[in-house]
Amino acid sequence: MIIDKRILLVVTGGIAAYKTPELVRQLTKAGARVRVILTKGGAQFVTPMTLEALTQDTVYQDLFSLTDENSMGHIELSRDADLVIVAPATADIMAKMAAGMADDLATTALLATDKPVIIAPAMNVRMWEHPATRDNLKTLISRDITIIGPDEGDMACGEYGMGRMSAPEEIVETAVRFFSASGRLSGKRAIVTSGPTHEAIDPVRYIANHSSGKQGHAIASALAAQGCEVTLVSGPTNQSNPAGVHVVPVRTAREMLAACVASLPADIAVCAAAVADWRVSDEASQKMKKDGKSLAPLELCENPDILKTLGNSGTQRPGLLVGFAAETENIIDNARVKLSTKNCDWVLANDVSSDAGTFGGEHNTIHLVQQDDVEDWPRLTKDAVAEKLASRIADTLEETS
Ligand code: PMT
Repeated sequence: MIIDKRILLVVTGGIAAYKTPELVRQLTKAGARVRVILTKGGAQFVTPMTLEALTQDTVYQDLFSLTDENSMGHIELSRDADLVIVAPATADIMAKMAAGMADDLATTALLATDKPVIIAPAMNVRMWEHPATRDNLKTLISRDITIIGPDEGDMACGEYGMGRMSAPEEIVETAVRFFSASGRLSGKRAIVTSGPTHEAIDPVRYIANHSSGKQGHAIASALAAQGCEVTLVSGPTNQSNPAGVHVVPVRTAREMLAACVASLPADIAVCAAAVADWRVSDEASQKMKKDGKSLAPLELCENPDILKTLGNSGTQRPGLLVGFAAETENIIDNARVKLSTKNCDWVLANDVSSDAGTFGGEHNTIHLVQQDDVEDWPRLTKDAVAEKLASRIADTLEETS
């Protein structure tokens, strides 16, 4: 997921500041360039060194510091950002923002900014419920400041209630949504399948394949980056959840099918998962034991075909249905058969012979197969394949709208 934007993160003095290194890590991973202003209070909970290591930039702390002001003054700090996030936002910073105060670097930068601001409040439940905080909140909302959370739960002070800072993933998701609101696929919904499926033999063994989920997850990210609302139905993988994407984890082909059908209707579906074609007819309820003899062949039955089911779902059929064809021979011919038997619009054929390095690797060589046309793409990273596909999808939907 490439946000490719500049974010100014203001970290104020609440216990939830301990979550900000993770927030910075996730924003950076999503492609954002993050600069941090750390208040005196914030520095009690998280060290500047940690944040500097993660942002690979100076952490700005002091309004009257010659070094801070020389490298980047408070006006530039706020001007240079595409978005300002205050996390955690204490009751104090909310009050200062509402009152328009400017008595330190954080408040001065916040008063000086003309950029959109998101705040993630975090405080004791009674402070959150206090009429003063409620009034400040109303003022901030009336100024178009976006509020994330707080969430309900156990708090560091031992009380239970509203006041916990939202999880870093939620803050990143809001930032991604914010940037992608103007994307070419904004207002569109997509389902993407990714990864392998695991089909149990007994409680400890399963049938699977080498799919890593890299290609499917990259496609989900690239679609979200274009503003699309994406549901990623993923088999078991080690990939982290792409920012701004709703992830539904599944294990088996049948679970994957159910999750895809539950996510309909959709404008777009991309089936990149390597779904196991077969499962064991009778999964053993206990761990199978060896007994010195060979194991009788397992009886297998066919799994449902998710792509084909989506292709034949009548009025529920996604407007643009894209399948993959993982082939080791006769790549284009086999892909054409899948295009018609599964009733999809495009098939992205790729060579998955063991020497091609597609399964689990970083690169992919795609042939985009349509009814009367084949387009050969160069060997690209899986991220680049995903971005090219997302752009092609956006072009096509714009042409047909
Ligand atoms: O995950 P990576 O390591 O990044 O590798 C990427 C990939 C090689 C898995 C990916 O690029 C890919 O080719 N995915 C499709 C793998 C596959 O199962 O291909 P297939 O030719 O067997 O299936 C054709 C299409 O039908 C695919 O879109 C597949 O998702 C779909 N299918 C297959 C069987 C089934 N029961 N249900 C399905 O939906």
